[in-house]
Amino acid sequence: MSKKKDTVLVSGGAGYIGTHTTVALIEAGYDVVMIDNFSNSEPSAVEGVEKILGRKMTFEECDTCDIKALRGVFERHEFSTVIHFAAYKAVGESMAEPLKYYQNNLVSYMNILQLMKEFGRPNILFSSSATVYGDADVLPVTEQTPRKPATSPYGNTKQIAEDILRDCCAAYEGMYGIALRYFNPVGAHPSALIGELPRGVPNNLLPFVTQTAAGLRECLSVFGNDYDTPDGTCLRDYIDVVDLAKAHVAAVDRMTEGKMEQKYEIFNVGTGRPGSVLELLTRFEKANDLKLPYKIVGRRPGDVPAVWADTAVANKVLGWKAERDLDDTLRAAWAWEKHLRNIK
Ligand code: UD1
Repeated sequence: MSKKKDTVLVSGGAGYIGTHTTVALIEAGYDVVMIDNFSNSEPSAVEGVEKILGRKMTFEECDTCDIKALRGVFERHEFSTVIHFAAYKAVGESMAEPLKYYQNNLVSYMNILQLMKEFGRPNILFSSSATVYGDADVLPVTEQTPRKPATSPYGNTKQIAEDILRDCCAAYEGMYGIALRYFNPVGAHPSALIGELPRGVPNNLLPFVTQTAAGLRECLSVFGNDYDTPDGTCLRDYIDVVDLAKAHVAAVDRMTEGKMEQKYEIFNVGTGRPGSVLELLTRFEKANDLKLPYKIVGRRPGDVPAVWADTAVANKVLGWKAERDLDDTLRAAWAWEKHLRNIK
């Protein structure tokens, strides 16, 4: 373990990416204050982090939409940097309940920015998404690729939040921001003590795959095999969550070591390699030596045919690169599902 560095406030700390990032930050020598309101996570996730690290964590139950409660967190803890994960993320639900998404994702975010300004806390790292690129004209996408108009309120909250950060960093002398645009985070910690905890029927591919393998779902539906791609299914950039967590550490290093070249910077966080839905299924079956029942069904509205990252900027500027082997990622995802369901 390296020498003590700054303290980082992690909002949504009990979530899928929040837990993995907390582990990576502590392992890199940072201190972390985790906050979460458990709206889409469980206290057991914090216990998982504690088991991995062999120590108690500083955790406060707090709804970031509640500025009074959040102010208390700012008053009680010193930190230079905030990583803001706390947000809703289900695309379909955001179409049905846009206000819920705008309210939660933007109010919580503005509360954080407001208090950072008030308390003079300089650095914020925002969880953005490849969804901001939409159906891009040129692939892979670079950070300069023009954003397409959002096709869901969820996607719109990511675009708006990026713009708010750009404006705040331009206006407020003491504020520095990084937006990380995640591609498709998958997998779990190799310890199988933390991972994704979807509530109800999963929307995302890999949790549906692992739940099908565990027998919780009868059959996986592959949404469309008539896309203009090599095997007809969509192409995505599946990035291991442990690699993704390390990208956060690299970004926090850059901010806390005063290395930012601009006050607001954006990085793609992916592997740079496209993979199809069918490839992912086949690799999952092989890596875990099992068979998955699946059927081809119609396209899912809103899906883009293909998106993957040009990672040159993140590789060079952050000095970060995705390293995990996809087979290991798929084994870790299955190990986590088995841990959850008590499957031997
Ligand atoms: C989605 C969101 C993205 C969000 C991300 C994380 C869209 C258009 N994008 O990414 O904004 O940041 O989730 O929440 O919704 N698939 C199946 N069967 C399934 C599930 C998925 O075939 O049961 C396919 C999809 O059609 C897609 C691929 O698997 O081609 C990946 O889907 P998913 O895991 O939902 O991620 P995205 O849609 O890429």
